[in-house]
Amino acid sequence: MIKLAPSILAADFSKLGEEIKKLDEAGADIIHIDIMDGNFVPNISFGLPVVRDIRKYTKLPFDVHLMIEEPSKYVEQFAKIGADIISIHYESDKHIDRTLNYIKSLGVKAAVAINPGTPTTVLRDLMNIADMVVIMSVNPGFGGQKYIDYSYDKIREIKSYADKLGRDILIEVDGGVDKDNIKKVKDAGANVIVAGSAVFKNGDIKKNIELLKGSM
Ligand code: DX5
Ligand code: ZN
Repeated sequence: MIKLAPSILAADFSKLGEEIKKLDEAGADIIHIDIMDGNFVPNISFGLPVVRDIRKYTKLPFDVHLMIEEPSKYVEQFAKIGADIISIHYESDKHIDRTLNYIKSLGVKAAVAINPGTPTTVLRDLMNIADMVVIMSVNPGFGGQKYIDYSYDKIREIKSYADKLGRDILIEVDGGVDKDNIKKVKDAGANVIVAGSAVFKNGDIKKNIELLKGSM
């Protein structure tokens, strides 16, 4: 089954609890949580205390996307406050194999993300251990950007590596997905699809989620 993972980056932060409840009621499968440090990416979102406080608003899995330098310093704290999946960037960790194994040892699913400019080949070995791969289809840092077209090929490449390995790995696509391209993203091989602005636009979360799911 293809899972839809709304990104709360596009939510109204003054009422984040309510927004998460709405996502849950509207049929979201996973809550995608973008953590930005103003260093790895040119933007700052929010951090640990916010994630801790919103945990009580839903039982849906929390998919924490760490767009930060030295993610290994923080994964234990995110695991403790209720992350179910933690994604770290290939580009931000010198010892990514170690950190992925560390995340798994904390009882959390471990994911590795790559920026648009990073080729999928760097993931081949890591796919032996990662539970999920994240193909960034925009340059990370901001919501509402345009989907980068060459990402379809990258999704297909990852799908073919996963098939060859025979591992039931999650393939997440993050950035610029909307009702017009979601089917193509799914058909390329994605099974977890992130959507921020497409879920929150015009304030009608329920209708937007229905539309996205219906367009797959
Ligand atoms: C980008 C974030 C994405 C983003 C998706 O840095 O990692 O998760 O919020 O938002 P949209 O769907 O608006 O591109
Ligand atoms: Zn993200």
